[in-house]
Amino acid sequence: MTLNEKGISKREIFTQLKQKQTQDFDWRTGRIFCSVYPAGKEIEEIAKEAYTMFLTENPVDPTLFPSLRDMETEVVAMCSDVLQGGKEAVGSLTTGGTESILLAIKTAKNRAKALNPTQTEFEIIIPYSIHSAFFKACDYFEVKPVVIPLTEDFKADAKAVENAITNNTILIAASAPSYVFGVVDPIREIGEIAIKNNLLFHIDACIGGVVLGFNRLAGMKNVPEFDFSIPGVTSISMDLHKYGYTAKGCSVLMHKDKTYRKHQYYACSEWTGYTLVNPTILSTKTGGPIAAAWAVMKFLGQDGYCDISRITMDTTARFISGINAIDGLKVVGNPEVSLFSFTTTKGNPYDLFDELNDKGWFVQFQLSNDYCPANLHLTVSKIHEGLVDEFLLDLKTCVEKVQKKGLVKKTTEKVTIEAVKKLAQNLSPENFEKIGKILGFSNGKVPEKLALINRIMDVLPPDTVRNTLIDYMNDFYTLNEER
Ligand SMILES: Cc1ncc(COP(=O)(O)O)c(C=O)c1O
Repeated sequence: MTLNEKGISKREIFTQLKQKQTQDFDWRTGRIFCSVYPAGKEIEEIAKEAYTMFLTENPVDPTLFPSLRDMETEVVAMCSDVLQGGKEAVGSLTTGGTESILLAIKTAKNRAKALNPTQTEFEIIIPYSIHSAFFKACDYFEVKPVVIPLTEDFKADAKAVENAITNNTILIAASAPSYVFGVVDPIREIGEIAIKNNLLFHIDACIGGVVLGFNRLAGMKNVPEFDFSIPGVTSISMDLHKYGYTAKGCSVLMHKDKTYRKHQYYACSEWTGYTLVNPTILSTKTGGPIAAAWAVMKFLGQDGYCDISRITMDTTARFISGINAIDGLKVVGNPEVSLFSFTTTKGNPYDLFDELNDKGWFVQFQLSNDYCPANLHLTVSKIHEGLVDEFLLDLKTCVEKVQKKGLVKKTTEKVTIEAVKKLAQNLSPENFEKIGKILGFSNGKVPEKLALINRIMDVLPPDTVRNTLIDYMNDFYTLNEER
């Protein structure tokens, strides 16, 4: 494809954009349980309007756009208040949970280097259930991830945290909650360990910052503790583009005080251009997410967030009891927030995922792990309030259908799995193409049924899954006019 020589009209552009959008999942139906967090049309419109108002403004230079600096510091202050940060807490808006986590680890590494310039090896201690963004940060910043096990309730084993500390440890991290199990790690216990060992302690509250924060403010019972009120916590990530209901591209990384945040900044005096000092990873970026976050938070206020929290938690409780009541399904552990996973005790989860898809529901498939078999994950939002009964009815029908097929894997499938495993031992371009054909990928199109692919991924060694995914993505993002 080449760029059209002459520009096309605005009307034609939007016709084409609308046409492209028809390929996408219609999330406004609410039949999706990941990636989007809809909280109503009015909130969406406010975010959109505020975003476009500051689309071109650029926070890279706060002297040019003090409005963005003001809004950013106000959003951070409002979040820090929810997380009981006190007067000293500070923070920055980032583009998402991953960037907040990357920066928390960069901060820890820079601080360690400042305190001990001879340190050359750096380790962070993370529970088995922590989000993949921590592994990504370790990969980017050359830090070793030291993974500790979980206890029976799927929470980090605090004793194992203590035992894993070495002279190279620069930070401990925990989840509030973990994405997979929806439970909060023992923050108070780990906080004590962090203090005793003079270590930084980061809480991944990308989900819980808003959910648990407002559950507490709404006066709900048994909300797990996780925030700055707990001694030892030095930084928290809290995503506003998820349960904060604002535009994508917005998370907050908060530090206990400025002495910690200092190590997050980057300044460059070596080059010949304009003076550069960046609090976050990107330099030039749009002011849109900052304005949208400010607008949505002000619009909802504490009461607005608490009301949505009540609806979301009630809806989640209905899903959980409904799923546990279906013969052959079981929710994993005791989720403490509005996301959770469930496994199949009869029938297989791979086919169940496809069956639900056929009925127009999109849940998230998760491969098996050391603590539970392959499972399906739900992130519940306000939009699901009126859909619980319909979902549970469809789920029951799908489970019955899958159970009829039985757990026994068909011989042909066994043969296919073995063939892929063999080919994957040497991921040459030819073998990669052969695997693609077996799995049904053609012209970069994803096959409609994913049961076989998910089942195969579940049995391949992690290294092979990683390499296959990279090769597949590398292929997928190429122009294919037949698509
Ligand atoms: C607990 C948790 N941490 C971090 C992240 C990463 O956030 P993002 O996708 O915004 O980069 C997620 C995403 O779902 C999450 O659930």
